[in-house]
Amino acid sequence: MWEAVGNSSPGTTMLVFDRVTTLKQHLRKLERQGLRIGFVPTMGALHDGHLSLIAQARARAEVVVASVFVNPKQFGPTEDLARYPRDLEGDRSKLASAGCDVLFVPSVEEMYPPGFQTEVEVTQASQGLCGAARPQHFKGVTTVVLRLFSIVHPHVAVFGEKDYQQLTVLRTMARDLGLDVEVIGAPLVREPDGLAMSSRNVYLSPEDRQRALALSRGLRQAEARFAAGERRGAALVDAAQAELSQVGLTAEYLELRDAENLEPRAEARGPVVLLVACRVGATRLLDNVIMGRVSS
Ligand code: PAF
Repeated sequence: MWEAVGNSSPGTTMLVFDRVTTLKQHLRKLERQGLRIGFVPTMGALHDGHLSLIAQARARAEVVVASVFVNPKQFGPTEDLARYPRDLEGDRSKLASAGCDVLFVPSVEEMYPPGFQTEVEVTQASQGLCGAARPQHFKGVTTVVLRLFSIVHPHVAVFGEKDYQQLTVLRTMARDLGLDVEVIGAPLVREPDGLAMSSRNVYLSPEDRQRALALSRGLRQAEARFAAGERRGAALVDAAQAELSQVGLTAEYLELRDAENLEPRAEARGPVVLLVACRVGATRLLDNVIMGRVSS
């Protein structure tokens, strides 16, 4: 079934689908008209970071499709699937106002009908970093994203650089499988005080919210050292580590990696990314800074 929801541009509406077959029929019609489709997959609880992905898709495509699906396959057995923040009404109105044309909100049964047994895995890029603490996570991400791509047939798909390893894994999948989709990374969006925007920030207590600022402060320190000419990876890591230590936080990882393929780097030569994951209270937060990238 589908329904129409008012959208900010006069005379247009955002169509909402919860069935694969009806969404496919609608999108194939647009495809036959030669329209370029931009796609933003999400798990909902949308914030300005997500809306920046919609803007990036809008700039590159004639039709913008978003999905909201909390994908059980990418959560471990002890993770926060049941309490993951959900706000479908809020998401619908934010997407409509942001100029999204089509929203897909499938049920778990619609995405994974009985008998569904296919999994897709990017073996190397999924290892280490978040893959160390969440061993099945990226397999769940690639499986759902490939399933979504096969429904939507996007020309371009936009993912946030905040989940840098996810972006790298998805780019690798698209390259390896020769998918006809351009995977775009959109810059990380921060709160005014520096905290990287994340749907999980709502879990933070006011005290933890303050302590969490050490992540972005630490990365800024490392960036400042890099700008002053420091290229030793250990020195850049130490600069970030010092901020975490000051508020008693221990990183799950804090590592300098190649920005293209995520291989470990001892020196910041060429584009590199300093990535951090850290539990603040019970909430696991991610942040990163890219250094040495030639801006386009
Ligand atoms: O980044 C996310 O929100 C999810 O991992 C994604 C890409 C929508 C897949 O479920």
